Amino acid sequence: MPSFTKRTMIIAVIAFAAAAAAFATLRPSGHHGHHMHGAHDEHSMPGLQGENATPEESEEMRVLFRNFDTLSREVTNLPDGINTVTRSTDPAVMEALVSHVIGMIDRVDQTDDPKVRIQSPALDIFFLRGDRITTTIDVADEGVVVTQTSDDPEIVEALHTHAAEVSDMAARGMQAVHEMMAARAQN
Ligand code: HEM
Repeated sequence: MPSFTKRTMIIAVIAFAAAAAAFATLRPSGHHGHHMHGAHDEHSMPGLQGENATPEESEEMRVLFRNFDTLSREVTNLPDGINTVTRSTDPAVMEALVSHVIGMIDRVDQTDDPKVRIQSPALDIFFLRGDRITTTIDVADEGVVVTQTSDDPEIVEALHTHAAEVSDMAARGMQAVHEMMAARAQN
């Protein structure tokens, strides 16, 4: 039965991809094993806590930063907003990413600022004028696809700035955050 064969093939491909991703995540980094356990984890990232953020939200962001090397992303700046596609090769990271995007955009809709310690000032305007942004989120095969538009030029500028900041964090993790914060401190 051709359809059965095809289906089995697809399952096999998915199983292989999942195994490869799990292997990539579990491989020891430098020294021997057990580095995932809290006591030896130098990456607790207290800056991801927020006055108005839940522990789950901070943990999701930790997962994104710890595994930034599994992320990839394309951004298109539109005259009135952004179109972004973001994905992870690791299914668990993908899950955290989708939850982060849905949760944070919902906060913007409700102008409910999480006040995360390291959060970018580019986000401030979103939490003041979230009602001026139209968003669609699509969880597709190629990744999580976000389109955001606004008729407010200041918001459009902030959308462009923030999308570039997310790209930098996806490419370089916490290093990108530290450099952005240092650059802002000099101004
Ligand atoms: C590696 C780290 C991070 C990744 C990969 C990431 C990923 C994303 C993505 C894909 C979006 C959807 C908008 C877009 O595609 O440009 C988004 C939105 C958002 N993120 Fe993150 N994020 C990260 C870190 C953070 C941090 C540290 C904060 C601090 C609070 C944060 C807060 C937000 C907020 C508030 C939004 C909604 C903004 C909007 O409406 O466009 N993110 N993030």
